[in-house]
Amino acid sequence: MTHAAVDRPPVDLTAVRGDFPMLGRLVHGRPLAYLDNAATTLKPRPVIEAVADHYRAEVANIHRGVHYLSQRATDRYEATRERVRDLIGARDTPEIIFTSGTTASINLVAQSWGDANLGPGDEIVVTEMEHHSNIVPWQMACRRRGCVLRVLPILDDGTLNLPAVERVLSPRTRLLAVTLASNALGTINPVADLAAAARERGAAVLVDAAQAVAHAPLDVQALGCDFLAFSGHKLYGPTGVGVLYGRREVLEGMPPVAGGGDMIRSVAFEGSTYAELPNRLEAGTPNIAGVIGLGAAIDYVRELGFVWIEERERRLLRAATEAVGAIDGARVIGAAPDKAPVLSFTVGDIHPHDLGTIADGEGIALRTGHHCAQPVMRRFGVPATARASFAFYNTEAEIDALVRAIYRCMEVFA
Ligand code: ALA
Repeated sequence: MTHAAVDRPPVDLTAVRGDFPMLGRLVHGRPLAYLDNAATTLKPRPVIEAVADHYRAEVANIHRGVHYLSQRATDRYEATRERVRDLIGARDTPEIIFTSGTTASINLVAQSWGDANLGPGDEIVVTEMEHHSNIVPWQMACRRRGCVLRVLPILDDGTLNLPAVERVLSPRTRLLAVTLASNALGTINPVADLAAAARERGAAVLVDAAQAVAHAPLDVQALGCDFLAFSGHKLYGPTGVGVLYGRREVLEGMPPVAGGGDMIRSVAFEGSTYAELPNRLEAGTPNIAGVIGLGAAIDYVRELGFVWIEERERRLLRAATEAVGAIDGARVIGAAPDKAPVLSFTVGDIHPHDLGTIADGEGIALRTGHHCAQPVMRRFGVPATARASFAFYNTEAEIDALVRAIYRCMEVFA
């Protein structure tokens, strides 16, 4: 844990829910039950205000002006970088690169680090439970560099087949790219152990923390990773902003893949030289308001504290798993002992989209489909699942509403 557990006053759930304007709205005339937090989280007022304040009263570009507003925007932008560093336990602030999201972060590593470090016959290892954004960029890198993609399989309970690690990792492994928490199954992977096994073979390690960052404290030192990626919008922050953490020694060796303003030291037609980290990897005007909003989101979450968040979400997941699991014909997909608050399920032969549509009529937001993890669907022999994913602001009453909607759907399709 990066954050010492400190004594805090008990959290008032009603007050917390009041921080999220979306929780006050109706959908199809029903109070919204937002159970799609793995897709994106709702935004608390301080985040909305931070973004709106920037646009209302503080607009300026960063790193470019001596004027008051530019200095102030720069300070606030860079203050978020420091907050991110502290949140994930990075050593140096320039190890934090702002991107547009997890996908952009992984693609940056695949293109920059990948092209500089991968060669024919090298192997990249991913797991069978990766999101497409931690598969496709590596397939593209393999095509460019003549490498081979290898896959760590998953077991029936949705955990990784750990004995297979010894077989799949090899002296040719150059990179292990693994998710900390699966968006489709919820499984939390033993990433520190996997990273140690990869490092023994001289491989680098990239952690996709998109589904983990909102639910538990992260510590890149304890994980032993070279890279870690996450998106702001899954951490109660704005869309269009994300983070790539990279160990300084590794980032230093990465050529920029985007050239332009703010990433150079000098430009001449004979050739250009590049700026130091982190600017070297952040060409052009970034999502300034988004980064400032992300800073507010980090403050908000840390104020609540991960001790409370983890306890509350564990309770919600347990209640939902029991309630949905008890429905005749329901199949919960992903039964790992350690899970992010994600419940994927099917009910008999009902298509998940039908479940999602009936639930929507009741004001319940579920995600249905393959969740950008088609290999997981294939592994479990289903085209799609319905997925309820929880945040600390969800309630037991919303789980009851979900169960009622499932029964209603079963009546309709009986
Ligand atoms: N990756 C996001 C999800 O799992 C969009 O829903």
